[in-house]
Amino acid sequence: MNRNTVLHFSAQKSRHEKIVILTAYDYLIAQLEEEVGVDAILVGDSLGNVVMGRDTTLQVTMDIMTYHTSIVSHTVKNTLVIADMPFLSYQVSPEEALRNAGRLVSEGGAHGVKLEGPVSKYGEAIGKIIRTGIPVMGHLGLTPQSILELGGYKVQGRSEECRERLKREAKELEEVGCFSVVLECIPMDLAKEITESLTIPIIGIGAGPYCDGQVLVYADILGWGKTRFAKTYINVREDIKKAFQEFTNEVKQGKYPEEKHGYT
Ligand code: KIV
Repeated sequence: MNRNTVLHFSAQKSRHEKIVILTAYDYLIAQLEEEVGVDAILVGDSLGNVVMGRDTTLQVTMDIMTYHTSIVSHTVKNTLVIADMPFLSYQVSPEEALRNAGRLVSEGGAHGVKLEGPVSKYGEAIGKIIRTGIPVMGHLGLTPQSILELGGYKVQGRSEECRERLKREAKELEEVGCFSVVLECIPMDLAKEITESLTIPIIGIGAGPYCDGQVLVYADILGWGKTRFAKTYINVREDIKKAFQEFTNEVKQGKYPEEKHGYT
């Protein structure tokens, strides 16, 4: 086995080699992402939006995360799989946080977990998970599980006070032992400053080009993206819709199937 591990992440930062992460929630997509050689796959709780069609990630449960994580981890051979800890899986107590992180590893097959928020709130939980041998990725800036408190999907870290807080929080996540931190939707000069001041890799999403790596929700680059920061590389959404439309029309018109599609 030659699996990518969290150690590769820090080695990549030392070599100034960019780290690539995409989300996946199922076999078809995880397989393709491994084939192109992404450094890690994130089974994000963004599946609440992408798979479940909800407005927020707050309805995603441990059972749902474990199920999708196990599909992805059974699909890939060499790629690091990081699973998101969903809402309420780590906030209640450090003990519950450890049990749930352990479940994503033992039942889901994840090689690390990601959770949102600072050490001042979840330091004990993060420490407990790390001391048990489960790598933890932090997540700061726009943290979608706090959407009710943040009042919408807005850029974070615009005020001086917020900038200083984010810098401090990123440093504290490094000190507590996180192997990496995701910075979501913050000004790029702030992301650059944090990236340069920390030794662990900083992965950006909507945080500009100066981070050590980038993560995106895969659907956002295939035609479903509505954010400014996600580039549409190909609009398969339109192609899939066209195929569904043609199939529908042809069946209705008796054009499909033809005899060549049947058996004698
Ligand atoms: O849930 C998710 O996919 C994420 C990324 C957007 C970073 O947390």
